[in-house]
Amino acid sequence: MKKILVLIILVLLGACVGSNKSSAQQNPRERVSIDFDWKFSLGDIENASQEQFNDADWRHLDVPHDWSIEGEYNENNPAGIAGAYLPTGIGWYRKNIEIENLEKDDKYFVEFDGVYMNSDVYINGNHLGKRPYGYISFSYDLTPYLKEGTNKLAVRVDNSKSPSGRWYTGSGIYRHVWLTKTSTIYIPQWGTAITTSNISDSSADIKINGDIKNDAKKDQVVDVISIIYDATNIAIDSTKSTVQINKDGSFEQSITVNNPKLWSPDSPNMYNLKTKLLVNGILIDTYTTPFGIRSIELNIDKGFLLNGEPIKFKGLSNHHDAGPVGAAVPDDLLYSRLKLLKDMGCNALRTTHNPFSPEFYALCDTLGIMVMDEAFDGWFTKKAEYDYGIYFKEWWKRDLKDFVKRDRNHPSVVMWSVGNEVRGFKAEDQKEIVSYLKTIDSSRPVTQGRGHFAPYVDITGFNGHGEQKGVLEKFHKENPDKLIIGTEMTHTLQTRGVYRTKTWYRTKDNPAPWEKPADFKRFESKVYKIPDLTEKEVFPGITKKYQSSYDNSIVRIGVRDDWNRVEALDYYVGNFRWTGFDYLGESFGWPARTANFGIIDLAGFPKDHYYLYQSLWSDKPMVHMLPHWTHPGYEGVEIPVVVYTNCESAELFLNGKSLGEKNITSERQIVWQVPYKSGELKVVAKNNSKPVVEQIYNSAEIGTKVQLKADKVTVKPNKTDVIQIEVAIVDSKNVIVPEGDNFVEFEISGPAKLLGVENGDILDLAPHKVMSRKAFKGKCLLLIQSTDEGGEIEVKASSQGLQESVLSVLSK
Ligand code: GAL
Repeated sequence: MKKILVLIILVLLGACVGSNKSSAQQNPRERVSIDFDWKFSLGDIENASQEQFNDADWRHLDVPHDWSIEGEYNENNPAGIAGAYLPTGIGWYRKNIEIENLEKDDKYFVEFDGVYMNSDVYINGNHLGKRPYGYISFSYDLTPYLKEGTNKLAVRVDNSKSPSGRWYTGSGIYRHVWLTKTSTIYIPQWGTAITTSNISDSSADIKINGDIKNDAKKDQVVDVISIIYDATNIAIDSTKSTVQINKDGSFEQSITVNNPKLWSPDSPNMYNLKTKLLVNGILIDTYTTPFGIRSIELNIDKGFLLNGEPIKFKGLSNHHDAGPVGAAVPDDLLYSRLKLLKDMGCNALRTTHNPFSPEFYALCDTLGIMVMDEAFDGWFTKKAEYDYGIYFKEWWKRDLKDFVKRDRNHPSVVMWSVGNEVRGFKAEDQKEIVSYLKTIDSSRPVTQGRGHFAPYVDITGFNGHGEQKGVLEKFHKENPDKLIIGTEMTHTLQTRGVYRTKTWYRTKDNPAPWEKPADFKRFESKVYKIPDLTEKEVFPGITKKYQSSYDNSIVRIGVRDDWNRVEALDYYVGNFRWTGFDYLGESFGWPARTANFGIIDLAGFPKDHYYLYQSLWSDKPMVHMLPHWTHPGYEGVEIPVVVYTNCESAELFLNGKSLGEKNITSERQIVWQVPYKSGELKVVAKNNSKPVVEQIYNSAEIGTKVQLKADKVTVKPNKTDVIQIEVAIVDSKNVIVPEGDNFVEFEISGPAKLLGVENGDILDLAPHKVMSRKAFKGKCLLLIQSTDEGGEIEVKASSQGLQESVLSVLSK
């Protein structure tokens, strides 16, 4: 698994570096990470852009960095509900760029994958440019201002006007930074566009369009050689053409690949295109573009066709933050999160509501996850007080162009989305934005979250509104030639380890700040009702801020009903639930810091809904039951035991005695009412009456120790690898205590640093960058990262009254 990540990083580096092994000539292009050794200071600082400015007393750190997540939750922070009550503000970053052997024919570029937001970049005191949009990738040409030796790069980041989004945004240089060197004739950043067509088992046509920049300021004849490599790095085909360039030029080439290995979520086959530029036989650039071969077709009778076959989107919407690291998500952690979703059977993600990091798309390519790539939330009318709506008019074309050029070669990107619940838009706006996008890439369908008010998208996106009874059917009747995609369905709310046996509807039982319980009356008849599991609430007295982990806490439709709709309607091609992971912000009010929409909590621990989706989406036999089986004081009380499985039937056993076998039906869950008795609860799932897979819960006794489990035994001393440590409160037989809420303290020794702590409790406002955390529902998470030294990393966890635990991981 780790191999995939390493490969991706190499591909990303190689996306530009690439060495020409077959020839003695070195590729003049170099691309290096400049993530390490920055200086940082919070606040606006006069003259901090200047070369001679003294930053000796500034903090030393590496990027990706997010200063908001380092702060404290405070009700008075201007980010408010939207931004999870975390601090925002202005920050400055400075870094030395060492240039050796500066040649007159060298070009240098600094590339930012993302800076939130309103960045101003300077080199040696010279202003290079400004980018308001905090999610866009951008670069600057440093060449005119560089000198041999030390150069000063300075970045001012302004997220002081807050809230600048409807969710937690993070603040700072929260993605990677790169330095690229080329010669004066080169392929510019994102300068290639690859499209594939006429795809069959025996062949596929590959069309390559590329740009060439000529800063040599004289006419040139350039040979362009394009070579396609398969996933094992064997060159399988090539082509050559010659272009005459004056200022800037372009080229177009075609190659036919025989017996292509197509890209799909089940077989994410990738290829690399290496484009070499030569002048008078001398290699002047090699540019590598990873790509995949696959076809997309919208067919009103069959749905969304990938490589000619209908495929339903088993999708999730996610924001870009990742619990205790905020918006600065290490690649290693991003990989684990995507892998967790893939293991659930998820085949698609929506980048709500903005461009994600380049690494995200590269990982989706290799893991096999389709992406609905979303450019914006709103357009000309702002949705949060100081969001991108303020800059939209001036910037949207530039940002949309850069976004599409950056992501257009990823096979995982199967659809663009131009916006989400855009306020006050006119059909003409949609037409203009979609048409402009199509001038840059016309090879994919375009949609829009809740974009059904205008006809200029290829596939109609429905958000929560489409969850109501009859809405999709009505739209289909009126627009029989349009496919529908659930750009944001289903909305359910759940807190890990919390159970309620009576059904809750958000508007009625726990209204969001913008809802009135009385509104429920108006749309009650359109809600897909879920029967209560019991007549009287079995688990009363739980705070309203927590939601039930049975599939019975919904806004308008439950997961099971919605998935039944997806399967029943050919024109409904699947959906993107709201959301995969819990995200910071957009809570229902202080002191909650998230709204609990995720099926995985802020610590990355799956809630029961994760397994519900797995039972619907994955073919690998699985079974999961809920709730846990530790309910002291409930002896004799009937507790609904719910089972999710993708097998045909399941049999439940309490302390060895069968409570009967039941088949899975369109209810998509099996329920037993079980009078509580402590001991062992076991479920056995069967196919053809034969046991296939089982799960056992034991009742926990009193917690006696802290248990540590790391996701890896070794890391590399590379300052990037992350160790995720699950911390659990367990009894003497190592059974997790489901209500365990002990305060745990950590000590780390050896070559690792703290990245953050988290427990998934939406009401726990403890800071993340400290060496302690309270457990929530038996567990919390400790994240640490390797340094640049090797050696043994030792983590100790202790808690008053409990036996401590020690764990070691080797950095080598
Ligand atoms: C949707 C919106 C999402 C999120 C969600 C919460 O209307 O598109 O961004 O706000 O509501 O329910």
